[in-house]
Amino acid sequence: MAVDYEKEGRIAVFTINRPEALNALNSQVRQELNQALIDFRDDPDLWVGIITGAGEKAFSAGADIKEFRPGPMETRGAVAWVRPDQIWKPFIAALNGFALGGGLELAMECDLRIAAEHARLGQPEVNIGFMPGAGGTQRLPRFVSRAMAAEILLTGQQIDAQEAYRIGLVNRVVPLDQLMPTARKLAETICQRGPMGVRAVKEVMIRGYDLPLEQGLQLERDFANRVRTTEDFMEGARAFAEKRPPQYKGR
Ligand code: CAA
Repeated sequence: MAVDYEKEGRIAVFTINRPEALNALNSQVRQELNQALIDFRDDPDLWVGIITGAGEKAFSAGADIKEFRPGPMETRGAVAWVRPDQIWKPFIAALNGFALGGGLELAMECDLRIAAEHARLGQPEVNIGFMPGAGGTQRLPRFVSRAMAAEILLTGQQIDAQEAYRIGLVNRVVPLDQLMPTARKLAETICQRGPMGVRAVKEVMIRGYDLPLEQGLQLERDFANRVRTTEDFMEGARAFAEKRPPQYKGR
């Protein structure tokens, strides 16, 4: 298997498993990741996903350059490609090393990014006569300043984890041995929150991002009204009044 997919209670862990090729995204990885993402999306018992890479060297060094052929880019999988930012459950990218090209693009499709101290991030496509093709030019300027995005995209140079933290591209930098414990702890914290509210927050943040403010506020009101019809909404309020932990059901 090129992607290990493990379910740990309400958390799913996706591990890109080609450490000998720095977890480069070849067609097998893309297809297996796609299948796992679909399973995660459709499994009501799974609430938060963590994506990481096998080994200590790379999250992913990007698209598999050795598979490059002339002509249009392949579709990213045999079935419709599903991206983490199209699934309304939170994703955490745990960057255990290089996150380059398509690897950084995948990390940017996640909601939170935690980097090991030795991680290095970048969009090196221009170094090999190419350009980002999976969101780099569009997401990076939305995550960091346009000036920093332009520098990363145009020079192809890597930045280290601390610099990625300084510019707001990653949420936290931790020692490698704390990477997965930190990711799991964050995931568990989110799992304790009301899942209907959590999913609505993600969807409204993403769908509302490019809307004019009034339309974004309307979208938020519509979703908030929908969340008010769920069992979890009343459970949260009852648990608060009764001074006990809530028992959310995801409905
Ligand atoms: N594709 C295929 N193989 C890769 C790879 C990639 N993206 N990145 C690394 N590998 C392979 C290397 O070829 C090498 O394999 P062999 O042992 O068989 O030679 C193995 O992984 C280990 O890599 P290195 O020996 O190069 O390791 P290093 O520590 O010396 O260098 C590195 C690390 C700087 C990350 C270097 O591997 C590198 O520059 N990799 C390419 C990074 C890159 O350009 N990524 C962008 C790809 S394009 C893209 O992603 C397009 C898109 O937006 C969709």
